[in-house]
Amino acid sequence: MKVKTDTPQYGNWISIEFIEKVFILLLIFGTVGTLLWIFLPGWIPLKILITSIAIFFLVSTIYFYYSRRLFSENGGNIQNKVLNKLIEKIDWEERGNALDIGCGSGALTIKLAKKFEEANFTGIDYWTGAWGYKKSQCEENALIEKVDKRTKFLKASASKLPFEDKTFDLVVSNLTFHEVKDSKNKLAALTEAIRVLKKEGRFVFQDLFLIRAYYGTPDELITAVKNMGVKEVHFIDTSKSTFIPKSLKLPFMLGTIGIICGVK
Ligand SMILES: C[S@@+](CC[C@H](N)C(=O)[O-])C[C@H]1O[C@@H](n2cnc3c(N)ncnc32)[C@H](O)[C@@H]1O
Repeated sequence: MKVKTDTPQYGNWISIEFIEKVFILLLIFGTVGTLLWIFLPGWIPLKILITSIAIFFLVSTIYFYYSRRLFSENGGNIQNKVLNKLIEKIDWEERGNALDIGCGSGALTIKLAKKFEEANFTGIDYWTGAWGYKKSQCEENALIEKVDKRTKFLKASASKLPFEDKTFDLVVSNLTFHEVKDSKNKLAALTEAIRVLKKEGRFVFQDLFLIRAYYGTPDELITAVKNMGVKEVHFIDTSKSTFIPKSLKLPFMLGTIGIICGVK
């Protein structure tokens, strides 16, 4: 395979396409609001409503642009630090087969392949286009990082993994389970992740586990995971990590992240 660059492209959890969509909404509501104020006499409540919506999209555009910078390597490098938080919790023999569910651009899969030199890694993702991540991008990144011989990437959904029961020695996932839309219950994707883990295998999942509507309380989540046939499970509230700036601690950003990890 030929690679277009010699620098891996890991992208950003806030894609430029997403910011463009918010900016387009700002342009639409801003233009309509301005035209109404200029050309339409009266209709004050409507004008205030449209202007408020335009202000909301203006603030959102600035907020997401700033957050994107914080996530990036040249900004606060928060994306890397969040991935490292997950890696810190991996207590594993360092060999065998590992799976990364929702691997995106391959960032976590490749970091792990570089750290655990005797293990083989599979990354799966649905690659819907929402983040601009691609399978070919993962493969190119793995080649550039010289771990292509021990990594492979497949298109699959976290809700129906194309693997036999008890296939992997380690299963990891970062910020993916809450995104799984093809099953109503977010716990179903967790059950699937545990299904493909071998007995005595290790798992470390980081997600928006403090969103109660998805996962219940941390105690309820621990009980639910234990009932999936797991012998040891821990919950770690990573949302309190000091490296996360206050502006990223909103509930839909990193304000609700946590890790569940343990042994099957
Ligand atoms: C916030 S990104 C995180 C990507 C990667 N884990 C990381 O930490 O850089 C969420 C990822 O979940 C993936 N995703 C969403 N729904 C999925 C599904 N049903 N099955 C597998 N992956 C999915 C998206 O394509 C995206 O790559």
